[in-house]
Amino acid sequence: MKRKLFVPIVITLITILVVGMLFWGLHSYVTDQNFHTTDYALRNVIDLQASAIYNGYFAWTSLYDTVLQGDLAKAATLVEDVKENFPLIDSLEFERGLPPEGRFAITLDGELLRIEYPIWNDNGTARVPDTFAVAVIQVRRLLEIVSPHEFKLDIAHGRRASYGIPLSPSLPFFNLWNISGIVLVSILIAWLILQRYARRKDFFLDTRGLESIIYLFEQTEKFSASHSRNVAIFALFLGKKLGFRGRRLRNLYVAALLHDIGKIGVPTSIITKTGKLDAKEYAQMKQHPVISARILRGFKEFEHLSNIVLHHHEREDGSGYPDGLRGKDIPLESKIIAVVDVFEALVGERPYRNPIHPMYAFEKMRQMPLDQRIVGILIDHYEELRTFRSPRWVLSYSPWVIAAQGPSVWIQ
Ligand SMILES: [Fe+2]
Repeated sequence: MKRKLFVPIVITLITILVVGMLFWGLHSYVTDQNFHTTDYALRNVIDLQASAIYNGYFAWTSLYDTVLQGDLAKAATLVEDVKENFPLIDSLEFERGLPPEGRFAITLDGELLRIEYPIWNDNGTARVPDTFAVAVIQVRRLLEIVSPHEFKLDIAHGRRASYGIPLSPSLPFFNLWNISGIVLVSILIAWLILQRYARRKDFFLDTRGLESIIYLFEQTEKFSASHSRNVAIFALFLGKKLGFRGRRLRNLYVAALLHDIGKIGVPTSIITKTGKLDAKEYAQMKQHPVISARILRGFKEFEHLSNIVLHHHEREDGSGYPDGLRGKDIPLESKIIAVVDVFEALVGERPYRNPIHPMYAFEKMRQMPLDQRIVGILIDHYEELRTFRSPRWVLSYSPWVIAAQGPSVWIQ
């Protein structure tokens, strides 16, 4: 029981971790976007306020003359309505000192934004040389307007926005939405992965079960043991050469492994007969691809392979069985199995004859109505096939018997 739970628990934990990281990435992205939006709004509001106040009060000859005469009390009355007109302004005062260049200068002082204004006359030709005005805005209030909930001032750890204003998001990652989202998405993904895992396990076990039946059956018949296993490995090799990948390659392998399972439905006396079959016996023998297809159709996992095994005895010129299909009408997978089936039968050891050397087998196959492109690929890559090692997903106890026996049998 504990072992059964191990894989689902590991899959679920990994899924939660990955989904959590994805959510974290998403959260960081959204936070970053919000930061830029808030910063943009903040800068615009500050610049607009500063600019509007400048145009309203500090390019004004009356104020210029008053300040130049040193009457700051009167100057203060001239600008007293600035707080009414600009509610964000906390205070506006005059200070002695060198005024900033241009229209205004903005600096941050703790949580206060200082906007320093030189005082110009109307046409901007003269400036008070030793006095300037300072408008103060509370950044916290400004922030409430541009970002009501998500951002707060954080002098110590905040990320610097415009004018050095330190901002940090106040939206925590571990909130109800994120946690519920992570849990729900993780459960959904883990469930899908576990379903797939269970299906693959079923597929593997069913394949192994059927393959075992064939293996045991082959021990009793005239053909060499492991014929189907060898055919499957050869088909896998050729499939790869033909560009098969992933699921298609696995399907080819399993179809090749199970292609002759229908022989269990043919009388043993016909299977084991070493002499020529009579017409009735041959007709029965020709039923085995049909029976193979019927058996595979009985398994949900193998249903889609039934058409491949049904046609593994078809020939290019239509002389094959069960349907006498011609060239282009035969599924490519069936053609591959047909080629390797013939090859394995020729070079494999049989009780009634020695194995044929592959070079003679190729000569024979060149004369047969097989797909000659596939035969050519087999011939061209034969040396490679002899050292071919199947991928790890191939059933672990399917030996390539010919690879192990080949050299000692053929090269004498
Ligand atoms: Fe067959």
